[in-house]
Amino acid sequence: MNEVKVAPFKGTKEQEAELKTVIDKYRDTNGALIPILHEAQEIYGYLPLEVQKIISEELNISMAEIYGVVTFYTQFSLYPKGEYKIGVCLGTACYVKGSGEILEKIKRNLNMEVGTCSEDGRFSIDATRCIGACGLAPVITINEDVYGKLTEDQVDEILSKYK
Ligand code: FES
Repeated sequence: MNEVKVAPFKGTKEQEAELKTVIDKYRDTNGALIPILHEAQEIYGYLPLEVQKIISEELNISMAEIYGVVTFYTQFSLYPKGEYKIGVCLGTACYVKGSGEILEKIKRNLNMEVGTCSEDGRFSIDATRCIGACGLAPVITINEDVYGKLTEDQVDEILSKYK
């Protein structure tokens, strides 16, 4: 199997300075970690380990604690989003109609895992909850485009439109 590659961290000095300003703003506030993580995600677009490490060192909070918070709340992401954000609905209606197999097919096609971004920054894949289009199950979205009543053998053709 090919090695799965994800986009490398490309944070700038300016982003780091902005993050440290945010940390200083909340430093003496109780429960500062969550608002800092929110603002950090706005600065970087996601919360990679490199960013968590800066927060950990500045606030003297363990990496394990920060990682636990980042992975607990679904609004935080460990990975950047791609130019094309693929969402595969794993809600009940979609799942029983085969969205799990469609997700596997997408992963194989792009050689990527769920929750990651491709090295060239073009694609990211997320498994989502019900998006309210159960009548079209199984459903995937690619940015604003919605594809419903999908079968596995349509996946390659759909993805080829975005490559
Ligand atoms: S379960 Fe997929 S849209 Fe509702």
